[in-house]
Amino acid sequence: MTLSSETTGDQKWARHLKRCDNPAFTLEPITGASFGARIKFSDPDLTVAVTALEARPAQLEQALITAGGLLLLPGLTEIASNPELLLRFSRLFGPEVEDYRHTLSTRNLVHPDVPEILVLSNQPPSNRQPPERPDPPLTADGELPVQFPHRKGWHTDQSFRRPPPDVSLFYAVVPSPKGTGQTLYASGTLAYDSLDDDTRQRIESLQGIHALPWTGRSETAVHSGEAPLELLPHQRPQKQPIVRIHPISGQRALYLCEDGQMDWVDGPIDGLSSGPSGDGATLLYELMSHFTQPEFVYAHDWDEGDLLIHDNRNVIHSATWFDTDNQVRHMWRTTVMGNPGPLYDGEPRSWVPPPGVDSTEGLADQTNERGT
Ligand SMILES: [Fe+2]
Repeated sequence: MTLSSETTGDQKWARHLKRCDNPAFTLEPITGASFGARIKFSDPDLTVAVTALEARPAQLEQALITAGGLLLLPGLTEIASNPELLLRFSRLFGPEVEDYRHTLSTRNLVHPDVPEILVLSNQPPSNRQPPERPDPPLTADGELPVQFPHRKGWHTDQSFRRPPPDVSLFYAVVPSPKGTGQTLYASGTLAYDSLDDDTRQRIESLQGIHALPWTGRSETAVHSGEAPLELLPHQRPQKQPIVRIHPISGQRALYLCEDGQMDWVDGPIDGLSSGPSGDGATLLYELMSHFTQPEFVYAHDWDEGDLLIHDNRNVIHSATWFDTDNQVRHMWRTTVMGNPGPLYDGEPRSWVPPPGVDSTEGLADQTNERGT
């Protein structure tokens, strides 16, 4: 792409985002991103800004849709001492913010006072460790690797559940030093729109089989001969469309994960031969490599107080390495559900256990596991 066409593209995106401008906030392109928007509030007082949004909650949701599924709200350091503000932001995207005590998350990750917050920290009691550095650690051009399979760990949150959640909010209480611990985001809409017609037709009705991580069904686990865990019905893998239609925008997007969040025992693609050497694996590698091309990816280098909001229905993400032996990284996540689209109408929630059964019963301890 030439400099002039880049400029034209950026200006076009900036004009596209301006349609969301309102008295409470404006949207600007994110530097270095082909999708997403940075929010600038009119009032610097965060409580005033949230209260204004609560009076018109659809405005922020519409901003997320207009921005292609990614919003950056920088400088919200007040949330660290007032986590209720994160819940108030979360509720702008739907009435049901997940209570992680009732989902498939181990207890050491749940915030002790606010159970709607999942704590992703390399410190106790979470002890969630960063992923390994890619091999080699940089691309031939000296850039941070983003494209699968050089980069691993791409996923959409909790796709092992039906219906899956809608929106995740990810907040930096303590980020790792600049240039490490970035979060990568890839647009499923841009990736789908750039597919050729033959591929679109080939995948239109296919479904991926998504699995709970650390249950012995990942590509890595299958390669190493690990025995899959016996899972209770509410913990078992779930099928999801590879081409997902967004319930608000109506746009198609790729919806797929890789290694640890797909089922490599019976999948990863329903109806295609299974396992790491099967036709499903070949298609998954083809699609994920396309999905995560640098032109569809934004790498966010965190500052303290940054809030990133992403739409799990059309955006995937991946964590990156930081020096966990010498650095602290402390992040909070909330998840909002309730509008997965008509495909899921009337379905019972796959992840809810029968009365008296703990949701994580029989699952492996996730302490010291890698990735977010
Ligand atoms: Fe995630």
